[in-house]
Amino acid sequence: MVKFQQETTSYFVLILPLSFLIFTALFTFSSNNPNILLLTNTRNTISTSPADLSGRRNTSAAIMTSRDDRVTRECDIFSGEWVPDPSGPHYTNETCWAIHEHQNCMKYGRPDSGFLKWRWKPEGCELPLLDPLRFLTLLRGKSMAFVGDSVARNQMQSLICLLSRAEYPVIISSSPDQRFVHWRYPTYNFTLAAFWSPYLVRSEEADLDGPTHNGHWFFRPLVFYENRQVVGCYECLAKNVTDLTRNYGYRNVFRTAFRAINSRVNYRGVTFLRTFAPSHFEGGLWNTGGRCNRTRPFRSDEIHLRGAQLNLYGIQVEEFRRAEEVGRRRGLRYRLLNVTQATLLRPDGHPTVYGHRPEDRVTLYNDCIHWCLPGPIDSWNDFLLEMLETELRGILHEEKRSR
Ligand SMILES: *[C@@H]1O[C@H](CO)[C@@H](O)[C@H](O)[C@H]1NC(C)=O
Ligand SMILES: *[C@@H]1O[C@H](CO)[C@@H](O)[C@H](O)[C@H]1NC(C)=O
Ligand SMILES: *[C@@H]1O[C@H](CO)[C@@H](O)[C@H](O)[C@H]1NC(C)=O
Ligand SMILES: *[C@@H]1O[C@H](CO)[C@@H](O)[C@H](O)[C@H]1NC(C)=O
Ligand SMILES: *[C@@H]1O[C@H](CO)[C@@H](O)[C@H](O)[C@H]1NC(C)=O
Ligand SMILES: *[C@@H]1O[C@H](CO)[C@@H](O)[C@H](O)[C@H]1NC(C)=O
Repeated sequence: MVKFQQETTSYFVLILPLSFLIFTALFTFSSNNPNILLLTNTRNTISTSPADLSGRRNTSAAIMTSRDDRVTRECDIFSGEWVPDPSGPHYTNETCWAIHEHQNCMKYGRPDSGFLKWRWKPEGCELPLLDPLRFLTLLRGKSMAFVGDSVARNQMQSLICLLSRAEYPVIISSSPDQRFVHWRYPTYNFTLAAFWSPYLVRSEEADLDGPTHNGHWFFRPLVFYENRQVVGCYECLAKNVTDLTRNYGYRNVFRTAFRAINSRVNYRGVTFLRTFAPSHFEGGLWNTGGRCNRTRPFRSDEIHLRGAQLNLYGIQVEEFRRAEEVGRRRGLRYRLLNVTQATLLRPDGHPTVYGHRPEDRVTLYNDCIHWCLPGPIDSWNDFLLEMLETELRGILHEEKRSR
């Protein structure tokens, strides 16, 4: 996978304490086997290209209502509602060992389990639950990397749990560093890797006892460097340093990371951007008593993305589109795993105080950022499989046309 640090001409310095928050996972999948996932013109949507698969360009991800290629009905899988699903959950902390301690909510006594009994229902079609055999078969001989922070890890662990009904992976990385762990699924020769890169660009902790931050990385004071020169900062209160906005930094990390991917000569994978995952603090910030004790999802008319979060989402999507356009010229594919809306509707899915023992002194005592496993972000991997299926159908379609 891409090592952003070595590729980038700009980098950023973080001047606040480490937390384990989130935002963005970029995960990519690269392959030595171009027959399956490469060499296609399939466009899902946000494409501005005039090409092919008519009618799909204005949906976020075109899927069909069944796996049968002859069925042609399409819908936007990211637009819909959460509906009751008594069949959940599909794994537990007893059947899956991959759940991170701080997301093992049942272990720490979360009293309600209703949050496990919902599934995402796109308007106009169904989103199937991830079929582990199907997933592993599709990815046979390939590799996938999750790049990002602890929310990226959260999703990767969800994936391992969902796949565990078929097979567990074995660790193949030699380093014990969990932030860069490599797994392999023996039967399928599928490699899964984590790349810890919370800012997606080079960053350093500059002040371990710094003042507050409120959840997401980019809400903290930041100093921005480009080509090793300080170009400005966000809320650093330093004299003589240009005050730049949080949005400036956010836009530039995406631009930089995408540029690194697009300039990587041997990279031929598909790059997915998992969009912003909203946190749900209510009644305060993470460090001023904010909590998230709701026990059921919102309906889509009950809450809307607003303010700073909407801005960040917009920036992400804009930079994604730029990168996609550039990538297309050299045959790289970009896909938007557009989970923001579905995720916004799940204030009930966070660990809150059930990510640790009551007496533990942890930084994020009320965690309204990460997600319990099992939990709502299992659906992110359901989306992922659907998108992979779409890739595959595109390739089959291309092959048929060129025959
Ligand atoms: C999407 O595209 C189809 C076919 O090109 C068109 O009929 C439809 O009106 C479009 N929908 C939106 C929301 O633009
Ligand atoms: C992401 O999905 C939401 C819900 O369907 C939709 O409103 C939004 O326009 C989508 N964003 C993009 C960039 O496709
Ligand atoms: C799983 O959760 C249960 C409570 O539902 C708890 O008693 C048990 O210790 C947990 N097991 C593991 C391995 O985390
Ligand atoms: C596993 O996949 C890699 C490509 O990711 C390939 O180079 C290797 O030969 C495969 N090994 C087996 C045993 O199929
Ligand atoms: C700020 O810039 C002025 C003029 O260039 C300079 O005299 C002053 O020493 C600088 N202050 C700091 C704190 O660097
Ligand atoms: C959440 O906490 C608030 C404030 O403590 C309380 O009023 C409310 O009833 C709680 N909601 C649930 C669902 O427990």
